[in-house]
Amino acid sequence: MVGPGLEERLGRTRFGPLRWVEVIDSTNRRLLEEARRGAPEGVVLVADHQTAGRGRLGRRWVEPPGSSLLCSVLLRPRRPPEEWHTLTVALALAARTAIGATAGVTPDVKWPNDLEVGQRKVAGILAEAFGGPTPAVVLGIGINVNWPRDAPVPPDVAARATSLSWVAGRDVDRAELAVRMLEELDRLVDLPAGDLRNRLAGVCSTLGRRVRIELADWTFVADAVDLDDTCALVVRQPDGTVRTVEAADVVHLRALDDGEPSCQ
Ligand code: BTN
Repeated sequence: MVGPGLEERLGRTRFGPLRWVEVIDSTNRRLLEEARRGAPEGVVLVADHQTAGRGRLGRRWVEPPGSSLLCSVLLRPRRPPEEWHTLTVALALAARTAIGATAGVTPDVKWPNDLEVGQRKVAGILAEAFGGPTPAVVLGIGINVNWPRDAPVPPDVAARATSLSWVAGRDVDRAELAVRMLEELDRLVDLPAGDLRNRLAGVCSTLGRRVRIELADWTFVADAVDLDDTCALVVRQPDGTVRTVEAADVVHLRALDDGEPSCQ
């Protein structure tokens, strides 16, 4: 699946070798299990298809077999738990650059963890972690790469998703995309949280927009005005109250129509 040139490039990073399986329940679940058994940083798992792909907040992640990049990596974080969300940011930035280089289309990063082209989701990231004496963070990403036009996915997914092949007008090499993304991630993953925050602020399509934010117990509308040092979203409500919203607390975030008046 992965040619010698690509393996060689991966060999110059902390990631690899690239294990690429046809079918698995969930690459994230498998790497968490391996992490608990002591697997080191840098383990990577890619699958052609997942039978129980996991999305954020217990949602399912579905894809037409063989046409997405479904990839998880194991990190042994050297930063405090309150900064672990910045690892998700590192992967979002790495995937954005890799997609730009391989598909010729550069997606927006929608806070907290989606990549979008034309306001349609092309990739999502799920971070799962455990603490203790040997903490681990498993970062998993699903990128819609070469979906067939009539992709057999549920209508709600079809309504808001796109595929790189649809926007690029050609198929994209999943192995090349994976290796390019892991090379970028290798460069970003040890950057200080503030650097990742600054890089995200430059490319985050959520900033400057009025958004509807759904938390577990309430929903509110506010203007997304900034990111704090750990990449949490700073919002201003219509009454002027400024709040910081953690990625882990957000059930759903939707940018409202451009025509809607700003709170500012
Ligand atoms: C989301 O947008 O809800 C996050 C989706 C993350 C999906 C990826 S696919 C590879 C990895 N394995 C999983 O089970 N989930 C992540």
